[in-house]
Amino acid sequence: MDFSRLISDKMLGVKASAIREIFKVAGKPDVISFAGGLPAPESFPVDAIKEICADILDNDPVTALQYGISEGYAPLKELVLKRVKEKEQIGNANDDIIIVSGSQQGADLTAKVLLNEGDGVICEEPSFIGCLNTFRTYNAKLYGVPMNDDGMDLEVLEETLKINPNIKLIYTIPTFQNPSGITSSLAVRQGMLRLAQKYGVMILEDNPYGELRFSGEKVPTIKSMDTTGNVIYLGSFSKVFSPGLRLAYLILDKGVMEKFVVGKQATDVHTNVFSQMIVARYLDKYDIDSSIAKSRELYKHRCGLMLSCMDEYFPKNVTYTRPDGGIFLWATMPKGTDSGKLMLEAVERKVAFVPGSAFMTDIEKPSHCFRLNYSTMSDEKIEKGIKILGELLSERL
Ligand SMILES: Cc1ncc(COP(=O)(O)O)c(C=O)c1O
Repeated sequence: MDFSRLISDKMLGVKASAIREIFKVAGKPDVISFAGGLPAPESFPVDAIKEICADILDNDPVTALQYGISEGYAPLKELVLKRVKEKEQIGNANDDIIIVSGSQQGADLTAKVLLNEGDGVICEEPSFIGCLNTFRTYNAKLYGVPMNDDGMDLEVLEETLKINPNIKLIYTIPTFQNPSGITSSLAVRQGMLRLAQKYGVMILEDNPYGELRFSGEKVPTIKSMDTTGNVIYLGSFSKVFSPGLRLAYLILDKGVMEKFVVGKQATDVHTNVFSQMIVARYLDKYDIDSSIAKSRELYKHRCGLMLSCMDEYFPKNVTYTRPDGGIFLWATMPKGTDSGKLMLEAVERKVAFVPGSAFMTDIEKPSHCFRLNYSTMSDEKIEKGIKILGELLSERL
């Protein structure tokens, strides 16, 4: 059957993610993959989760297995609000919370509530492909603002806002950005907030990596500085607990909350209650901070090792970011080179990474940059893979 007539306009422009395609190759056991974006599996608190599941099914099975509330499981909401207040100074009298099925759904709901077809979304260039695709599926127009070492270029941001009145949303990942590893400075965060207020647009602050800092000074979240309700904050348990449980949360102004709740009801009624109960009990009875501290140590080690191997094996005309946390770094080759072509050659040598074009507003345009992930590979594989990549780069550049 010819399905093309039946596919909606909004899905026509969205292609299968380049990363998913690369995963097919990168997932082969003989490939050293720096292409993924997964948390280290050794960080999953499996024994604790076993105990918690038994406890839930012994003592509160009906709550776990029955329909729940769209806003989220009340004890989890309370624990998350307490935690973000302590850790990020987020939460004023006008803020509310809704538990969502992963940050991905948080971005999707935000788009569903705010965007008409043709409305504009400003994003960092490069930015996280998953959320760019979310905005694409709502037929939003993406405006990429280039990233400097300290975050979005504020002059370009203001110019873009000034000349495009269709813009409603600025999407930013200010801390240990995916894909670049860059952390936006306090000045850039303040500037983004000031411009959002000036031009009457919302900011979606996506912060799944914020707790994974292994060096440098903490920078306040944009939401913690928001007194006007312009910022929607998106936090996630994917990188600090488990992505498979699909748990994240939006903290947003009460004035827009109702639309988010109705939007969520229309999508999946509510987030999986069993998952919410597991995380709530873990936050309440176990020590998530010490578990996150272990992940931080591991990522610090793996990032440091990857960087020192890159220092040794990469040619000097390739530069790269030195992240203070998170799980990605970003390499830049000389202008005019194509990381997509390089990736095909790297895969032949059994090493995978993601070419920069995947993270751009125009994915067809070749990019001279690429993303490397360091969270899941062993020391041996990091050393071997970076050496192979270094040799390939030296031959080609
Ligand atoms: C910046 C960013 N936002 C959102 C997500 C989606 O995460 P979740 O598992 O919470 O849906 C990711 C996942 O890699 C991410 O890097």
